[in-house]
Formats: sequence, C-alpha cells, structure tokens
Amino acid sequence: NHASASTIECKFSKKKRNHPLSCFYKNLFKAHIQKPKTGILMLNMGGPEKLEDVHDFLLRLFMDTDLMKLPVQNKLGPFIAKRRTPKIQEQYSKIGGGSPIKHWTSMQGEGMVKLLDEMSPETAPHKFYIGFRYVNPLTEEAIEEMEKDGVERAVAFTQYPQYSCSTTGSSLNAIYRYYSNRADRPKMRWSVIDRWPTHPLLVECFAEHVSNELLKFPEEKRDDVVILFSAHSLPMAVVNRGDPYPQEVGATVQRVMEKLGHCNPYRLVWQSRVGPMPWLGPQTDEVIKGLCERGKKNILLVPIAFTSDHIETLHELDIEYGQVLGEECGVENIRRAESLNGNPLFMKALADLVQSHLKSNEPCSRQLTLRCPLCTNPTCGQTKAFFANQKLS
Ligand code: FES
Repeated sequence: NHASASTIECKFSKKKRNHPLSCFYKNLFKAHIQKPKTGILMLNMGGPEKLEDVHDFLLRLFMDTDLMKLPVQNKLGPFIAKRRTPKIQEQYSKIGGGSPIKHWTSMQGEGMVKLLDEMSPETAPHKFYIGFRYVNPLTEEAIEEMEKDGVERAVAFTQYPQYSCSTTGSSLNAIYRYYSNRADRPKMRWSVIDRWPTHPLLVECFAEHVSNELLKFPEEKRDDVVILFSAHSLPMAVVNRGDPYPQEVGATVQRVMEKLGHCNPYRLVWQSRVGPMPWLGPQTDEVIKGLCERGKKNILLVPIAFTSDHIETLHELDIEYGQVLGEECGVENIRRAESLNGNPLFMKALADLVQSHLKSNEPCSRQLTLRCPLCTNPTCGQTKAFFANQKLS
C-alpha cells in the first residue's frame, strides 16, 4: 500500500526518499538475489531420472576409476555400460521409469536450508546444491554454480552416512580434480562432512521406521521377526585395502538396535553383488533363503546405508527379494522399512549436522585425513590434503 510504502527507508542511501517505491522494489530485488553465504553441496551417486539417461549413468559409473579399476577401462567401461543398459532400463521401468533420488534430495535440501536459516542466522543465507557423481546435476556443474553464485563458505556434505572410498571418496576426489584441472584456486572456503554413521537423529529416524514397520506384522508373529539390515556390498579387494565402510555400517546398526532396546534378533547383510570376484557377505538373498530353511519366515528388511529410495530398495529389495524370492522360499511375512525420504526428522538431522559442522570450524573429520593403509590411488592423498589444508577463518 502506498501509504506504508512512502515511509520505507531506503537501505541503499540510508535516507528517506520521495520516491520510495523504487527503493522498495530494489530491496525486494536485493532480497531475492541475495548471495548465498553458505553453500551446501549434497553429494551422492544419483540415479537416472528417465530411461534414456540409463546408458550415460552406467557409462560414467563404469569409467569411474575411484569406484573400480578395470583392465583397459576406456574400452571395457563403455562396452559393459552398453551391454547392461537394456537390463537396467527394464528394472527402472518397473519402478516407475526412473530414480526418485533427485526428487528426495531436493526435498531434503529444501527442508534442511529452511531450518538452517532459522537455526544459524550468522551463516545465512544457506543454499543447497545437488552434486551427483553419475547423472545431472553433476558435481562439477554444481561447483561451477556455487562459484558463480559467489558462495563464501562451501560445505561438501556427503549423503552417504557411512564413508567408503568408492562412494564419498569418489565424490571428494571429483571436487579435488575440478580445481586441479583449472588454474583458478577456489574462491570459496571448503570443508567437508565426510561421515555421520551414528548421528543421534539419524539413528532415531531409522529406529522409528523399523518400529513403524514391525507394527505392520501380525501381532502373534511380531516377536519372531528377524530384522535384516541390508547395505550395498563392496568387493573384498576394497574391504581388504582398509575401507572403513563395513565398520561404519556396523556402527549404525548397533546404535539403531540399542535405540530399539534390542527388541528382535537381527543381522547385517549385504546386497547388490555383481561380477565373479569375491564380495563382502553374507548376501541378503542367501540370508533370506537360509532363514526360511531354518523356519524363520518373518523378515523385516531395513536399508541402512542409503537414506532415500533408489533402485536397490524399490527393485532389488521390494521386487526381487520381497516378492519373487520371498514366494520361492515360502516366507510368511516379508516387509521393508521405509527409506527416510521426506521424514521431517531426517531434515532436522541434516540441518543439525551442518550447523554443528560450521560451528566446529574444522575442515574435515580426523578420520578423513588417513588414507586406506593399502591405498594405491594417488588422488586420494591429494584430495585429503586439499580439504585438510583449507583455511576456514
Ligand atoms: Fe581409500 Fe585411497 S582407496 S584412501
């Protein structure tokens, strides 16, 4: 209204003006284009949103030397990607035609920055960016956008709660390479939240989802339910070079079971093994079979290493194991705990992690500074030095 607009003080000149509307709109415009002080880069592998994105997703994945080393990778990588595309497209078509990970990450990011602006006005405004490793928006594009936005303080925030050099490590190496391939030094001050396997709110979210799902079993069967925490497996070659992932996943499981008062028997099992080489086990499907053979026919699957739904929950756990395998084994009840997806408590967990990280003024965890004892990838060492040597103040 014109009367109130006429009393607006012009923030640019600090004087009252006769034409306040122009200042009013300038202020409004300024508020909208205000530079984000803190940029939070949410790192994850990502998933193809559409069937036509599957090939490029697989190509980037099989070409990622931080994730896997293949003989003549620049020839074999494209060959495997092309060969696997139809099968993976078929799987995505069964879960609605694409991965929901960008949808959930955007929702989580929005919830997180909204909370952060209230909880931490001194580091506001906060803006989240999505940096996927194998699909758009790619990590490199996100960094470019952050630099363009004039972010002062950048937080690389892994969305994998438990650290593995093949997941978080690969994303951090991508950030390091982005800068090492350019002459310019980063304009932003970087730090990294590299792991959070036992964060109390994360544990609370998982425990809540397990309890909710347990209640859906017939009452007389509830005590008999075996909880299977299922995480993506790793090749033993990765485990044996000293990757911290198995131990950190175990830590999450332990805390969740403590929170649940050890209400049921449980096991940590590993899914998604591919290829002929040895992988970390026991495998989720073999465990389901084994339990059924031993008369344990009420099973609750809990995805514990990914926070949002993705093909390994919606296809592998729900369809391949929950429906097909469950029926073959004569399971009585098999259910899956919901992924954390849009749970508001999870957004609070993310905001809390960023807030305490910013307050700590630490560039990364002490644990990040140690390379795997048998690491042979020189980029790992350079990446760790890049983050550990950031000057934050
Ligand atoms: Fe773990 Fe290099 S593979 S630090």
